[in-house]
Amino acid sequence: MIEDIKKNAEKILGQIDFKAEIGLILGSGLGVLAEEIEDPVYINYGDLSNFPVSTVEGHTGRFVIGELSGRKVIAMQGRFHYYEGYSVQEISLPIRVMKELGIKSLILTNAAGGVNKNFSAGEFMVISDHINLIGDNPLRGENLDEYGPRFPDMTEAYSKELIKTAENSAAENGILLRKGIYAAMAGPTYETPAEIQFLDTIGADAVGMSTVPEVITARHMDLKVLGISCITNMAAGILAKPLSHKEVVETAERVRPQFIRLMKDIVKNI
Ligand code: HPA
Repeated sequence: MIEDIKKNAEKILGQIDFKAEIGLILGSGLGVLAEEIEDPVYINYGDLSNFPVSTVEGHTGRFVIGELSGRKVIAMQGRFHYYEGYSVQEISLPIRVMKELGIKSLILTNAAGGVNKNFSAGEFMVISDHINLIGDNPLRGENLDEYGPRFPDMTEAYSKELIKTAENSAAENGILLRKGIYAAMAGPTYETPAEIQFLDTIGADAVGMSTVPEVITARHMDLKVLGISCITNMAAGILAKPLSHKEVVETAERVRPQFIRLMKDIVKNI
């Protein structure tokens, strides 16, 4: 693992002449933000050592490194999910590589189902906390002591300061930004209505199949974390209609202009 982290970081550092400050992970249908990055250097996951390759429709598989809103960023255009068959340890590799490249903050975006009945499809939610229901943890196994402690504190997994920054950016841009708890499921099935009722009962506001393994890895290394969900659909059983990946991607595309505006302003102000 450590060898792959160092080798990949070195390979990427050989192609850029600056340190990245902010990492960005772009979720389903949200990869377009990477096209806003100026003077981009592209690094395909396939050219890296032991790197997983994203298999989902709506996900491209590469790092895009350059400048966004005047800040040096490294974006993952396409991410890895547990349901694709990757271990949570494999999912954590890119996060460790980005840490080696110098990032201090990590912004994660995702498409999520709305569990909170006050939400509507097309809205954004800043993640205040999460509930890990994937049933696995990327830090299981031997601890990588040089990156962080055996038993990391998760009291403030999502930086209060960055949440404030996101809320200010949303307000300044006239964008409604909900705040809530993200529950991570293994997938790839969408949830049953009974599962959604359960998630509602235990305090979740949104549900998705990503983000949490990456956040745990980032917190292990004491990176500051911000999570933004795009509520692409209301979760199963809330509205009388079936869920589809098509709807998820279509909603993400519909709110693209607001998403780009919000993210660029957040990056500027971090
Ligand atoms: N459930 C789980 N993951 C999702 C959903 C959902 O309803 N929408 C987008 N990702």
